[in-house]
Amino acid sequence: MDISPHVVVVGLGYAGLPLAVAFAEAGVQVVGLDVAPKRVEMINGGASYIDDIADERLNDVVTSGAFSATVDPACLERATDIIICVPTPLTKHRIPDMRPIESASRTVAACLRPGQLVVLESTTYPGTTDEVVRPILEDSGLQAGVDFALAYSPERIDPGATGSGGFTLRNTPKLVGGLTESCAARAAALYGRVVDCLVPVSSPRIAEMAKLFENIFRNVNMALVNELSILCERMDLDVWEVLDAAATKPFGFTRFNPSPGVGGHCIPVDPFYLTWKAREYGMHTRFVELAGEINENMPRHVVGRVTRALNDQMKSLKGSRILALGVAYKANVSDMRGSPAIAVIEGLVSDGAEVRYHDPHVPEVHVAGSSMKSVPLTSDEIAHADCVLVLTDHSSVDYGLVVDHARMVVDTRNCVRKSRLSSLKQQVCA
Ligand SMILES: NC(=O)c1ccc[n+]([C@@H]2O[C@H](COP(=O)([O-])OP(=O)(O)OC[C@H]3O[C@@H](n4cnc5c(N)ncnc54)[C@H](O)[C@@H]3O)[C@@H](O)[C@H]2O)c1
Repeated sequence: MDISPHVVVVGLGYAGLPLAVAFAEAGVQVVGLDVAPKRVEMINGGASYIDDIADERLNDVVTSGAFSATVDPACLERATDIIICVPTPLTKHRIPDMRPIESASRTVAACLRPGQLVVLESTTYPGTTDEVVRPILEDSGLQAGVDFALAYSPERIDPGATGSGGFTLRNTPKLVGGLTESCAARAAALYGRVVDCLVPVSSPRIAEMAKLFENIFRNVNMALVNELSILCERMDLDVWEVLDAAATKPFGFTRFNPSPGVGGHCIPVDPFYLTWKAREYGMHTRFVELAGEINENMPRHVVGRVTRALNDQMKSLKGSRILALGVAYKANVSDMRGSPAIAVIEGLVSDGAEVRYHDPHVPEVHVAGSSMKSVPLTSDEIAHADCVLVLTDHSSVDYGLVVDHARMVVDTRNCVRKSRLSSLKQQVCA
């Protein structure tokens, strides 16, 4: 007999909210549980705070009654399936901060009933589901794999790109690692309602490690291309042309692009979950540490590029007016978490520059204790800047206007193509 699932998604952020909406759209009854009353209120009012979920989409599932949000853990009692999507940040000492996972697990444990499925989706080190979540849930007196099912299934969404590269929750293969075979089968049956391709693996640990491997692969390759971009600059080689050339190889090469640094909640953070766990096994994950070091130095490098570019024009950074284009951590999102643009702007300001910014997705930012508002991108604004600094490659920005009016551009994202730069005094690719 197919019992209709009743899903509770714990943690309604970038990972949890799209998942909850997808289940609701698939006809599953979903309740979202969050500790942030403001978020709960917004969801129930049909107002989305996540770029990839349009208000209309959210509103449809809220008004149909398929999805609602609450701060009341009592909703867990009615659930058949519980999915935990809470944050996994680092502490100020850069070690895993397990408090959100522990606290969410305790909340679930307090209401746990026989027959329920609990799935952890948060990105975390191998062993978390078994060593952290399981004991907390078993404090309820119920046994994992016997009285209730337990699994790990990592979130793989690409914020801002959802749908645009053709990859959505539905057509992105989803890893599922169950504590037992029946736990895995139970989780696969649930996710089969919203995902076309499920990839069962033999344990939660394999799935946890696979997710970290994916993100570390990105982090290390981003660091590699960033380091080579600095070398290309010194050798007076156009790194973008080098990459275009290398990327023609149809096998054995994956393209990554240089950047002013690596931001977001995942790529700069997740690798350090593994670094921390590796110490328990007497290992230093040197690639991870080195990649972090290179990427963290990129904002300082960009400040140096701007300084040198101004210097070539007989200007000092001190007193110069810089217009930063884009402050979000990546293209076409409003997410500011870990954005390298903030470190770049702080560096410019502390060296005496007067910085303004334009970002169609981010109306206001807080930099070095004060708030800045996005300025409209007009020809006057561009022309008044001693340097226009492209930090995020938002697709809605009119780079043609920049080309037509900028006195100088430092382009860390290759938005302003060389072919369009004949009217510019100088182009600098960081
Ligand atoms: N953002 C992404 O693109 C992405 C992609 C893949 C994986 N992940 C992973 O998913 C997890 C969640 O990330 P996110 O970006 O959605 O975080 P987020 O900060 O956007 O959202 C987390 C939500 O959880 C809530 N929360 C915190 N503690 C809670 C608790 N004890 N009970 C209930 N709700 C609680 C917060 O209020 C918040 O609304 C992280 O492990 C992250 O690494 C994120």
